[in-house]
Amino acid sequence: MNVLIFDSNEKLNEAGSNIMTSLIQTNPRAVLGLATGGTPVGVYEQVVKDYDRGLVSFKSVTTFNLDEYVGLPEDHPESYHSYMNHHLFRHIDLPAKQIHIPNGNAEDLEAECRSFDERIADAGQIDLQLLGLGHNGHIGFNEPAHALIRGTHIVDLAEETLKANARFFDSIDEVPKQALTMGVGTILKAKMILLIVRGADKAEIVHRALTGPITTDVPASLLQTHPHLVVLLDQEAGRLM
Ligand code: GLP
Repeated sequence: MNVLIFDSNEKLNEAGSNIMTSLIQTNPRAVLGLATGGTPVGVYEQVVKDYDRGLVSFKSVTTFNLDEYVGLPEDHPESYHSYMNHHLFRHIDLPAKQIHIPNGNAEDLEAECRSFDERIADAGQIDLQLLGLGHNGHIGFNEPAHALIRGTHIVDLAEETLKANARFFDSIDEVPKQALTMGVGTILKAKMILLIVRGADKAEIVHRALTGPITTDVPASLLQTHPHLVVLLDQEAGRLM
């Protein structure tokens, strides 16, 4: 595991985007696993800057997003479809047919999960999986549980997650109660994992996830078993490391 702590958001964003862009420069057909939430926004901004400077093209890249809310219209401003469009996809030359985000409005959600896993399998392997970290140690929407699920599945969001994500909605009642998420098995199969965490409120969970026991109670602790994990932290999130 390689843990890097940055004294400014700019440096952290640059480090994150450099990892993404250099991967695509070496392998233009790279398969990226993408994350949402507040954490990666600055990294995507920097990636778009690199794209605008002509440093990278996404023409042959394929992307898979970690998760999506169930039942939230795709064009709702807080859907992860809208998020990805707003922060990344509309700014770059990534063809729509190479973008994969779970469809939380599919009539048959189980079938959608299976189809999402098949599409990942068809793409070969995710070369780089970007991850944020929930306050309860969730990755994607894999919430703490007695057992974790390998592939894409429907999940009931934890109370803590509903509260954390209420900031993006008018009230907590509007936060969807379920989501589709890539499973931890798929996440751990990625060739490289890039975990990015910011903020003092995450310092404790960062420490538990990266140095504590490996347990399904802290899904991110499973990342300790990954052979190529890079962690980018700001000073606040890295305070206990
Ligand atoms: C969200 C997402 C995760 C994200 C995490 C942290 O609910 N499903 O993929 O990493 O929670 O979000 P944030 O970066 O906004 O703190």
